[in-house]
Amino acid sequence: MATLWEGRLSGATTDALKALNDSLQIDKRLYREDISGSAAHVKMLVSVGLIEKSDGELILDALKTTEEEMTSGSFVFQPEDEDIHTAVERRVIEIAGEAGARMHTGRSRNDQVVTDLRLWTLKGLDELAALVVSLQKSLIEQAEKAGAARLPGYTHLQQAQPVLLSHHLLAHAWALSRDFDRIIETRARTDVSPLGAGALAGSSLPIDPIMTSETLGFSETFKNSLDAVSDRDFVAEAVFVNALLAVHLSRIGEELVLWSSEEFGFVEIDDAYTTGSSMLPQKKNPDIAELARAKTGRIVGHLSGLLTVLKGLPLAYNKDLQEDKEPLFDSFDTNTLVLTALTGIFDSVTFNREKMAQAADKPFSVAIDLAEHLVHKGMPFREAHTLIGGLVKASIEDQKDFKKVVLENENFGPEIEDFFKPEAAIDRRITPGGTGLDAVEVQKEQMKKRLEIQISMMSR
Ligand code: ARG
Repeated sequence: MATLWEGRLSGATTDALKALNDSLQIDKRLYREDISGSAAHVKMLVSVGLIEKSDGELILDALKTTEEEMTSGSFVFQPEDEDIHTAVERRVIEIAGEAGARMHTGRSRNDQVVTDLRLWTLKGLDELAALVVSLQKSLIEQAEKAGAARLPGYTHLQQAQPVLLSHHLLAHAWALSRDFDRIIETRARTDVSPLGAGALAGSSLPIDPIMTSETLGFSETFKNSLDAVSDRDFVAEAVFVNALLAVHLSRIGEELVLWSSEEFGFVEIDDAYTTGSSMLPQKKNPDIAELARAKTGRIVGHLSGLLTVLKGLPLAYNKDLQEDKEPLFDSFDTNTLVLTALTGIFDSVTFNREKMAQAADKPFSVAIDLAEHLVHKGMPFREAHTLIGGLVKASIEDQKDFKKVVLENENFGPEIEDFFKPEAAIDRRITPGGTGLDAVEVQKEQMKKRLEIQISMMSR
């Protein structure tokens, strides 16, 4: 079988080498990027006079045909196609003959592959940003619909204080805003063309890396050829951004699992996003939420796998770097599935306001407000905390209604009755960023503005 290196090495490659070495099945999804990278390179070669205009045209036509064949599925891969770069070049030479054999002038697969991967990652980040925005929109819409609906807020998964449902949903939207920021920041560092670095040291031919960079729409061009071909920081960052995003999505998933359980009963997930049991007829299982929780494992695994591949690599290109693609692709693919499904869940979810209010309106949940009421009247907080703690204890030990215990205490007058009214605890939260109705109104506006800024950053 013919190899790219048949001039230097004799003897056929072994099956074992091929099985380990070939990356076509993974990297063939880079074909569009590979072809646009090659087209930019060829235009540059013509422009600097390294190949004839007529040869350039033949190559560009052959690239176009190759792209059409790959898109339609009619492209026939050959056993010697080691990766997408060799497959495309082999076909271009088949179609364009000698002209095709000039395409790889002044270029190495080392700068070629990382050019492709940067182009792919830029697109992946843009699509991911749009999906994050969609989930945020869905959360904000539910926050609007929630009005004054309240539920218990938890710490240590123990009921702590009542909070507005809108406040809770927006908390997730803010985390997603930070994910969005990280996507944009990673995008900026990805947006650098490595094409023209050659195998590692540049070229003796008068190629023009800035021209190819501009043709491909990159914002910057590499400054150091060794760094250009060996740098996979952008891959690691993109996987990290996905991993932290997945951590956020898993937390949302976990809440949906809890909240849809019989014990909580706060949400009803639409049938479209649940499954039944093969044995138990009554079951409605929140599989999608569970998978949103579980899929995080593989992405976090990709991050540590990739960093381990990168550690200790000497400059410049090493074949180890071929292992960068699977973790990258799978991280994006997985989050795309999960984001789409979670957005669907929130677009169609029903909240059970009564259940949530019932759980929120427990007398003990106003304990902190009673202590703060005493602070208003001049008592040091530590003292008030101890006093209320004692009343809670008495109520539990004597099995007496907490409200009664409080009303009987000499520190409180009849005014304290109002504190036990449902909603009262939320109304009393007056601080910015807190769960009070007014504060959450302000927060909603802030979130909507934030989202507008995000959307304007996307369309640039
Ligand atoms: N398939 C290779 C990769 O993904 C392309 C670069 C190969 N370069 C080389 N010198 N063998 O990294």
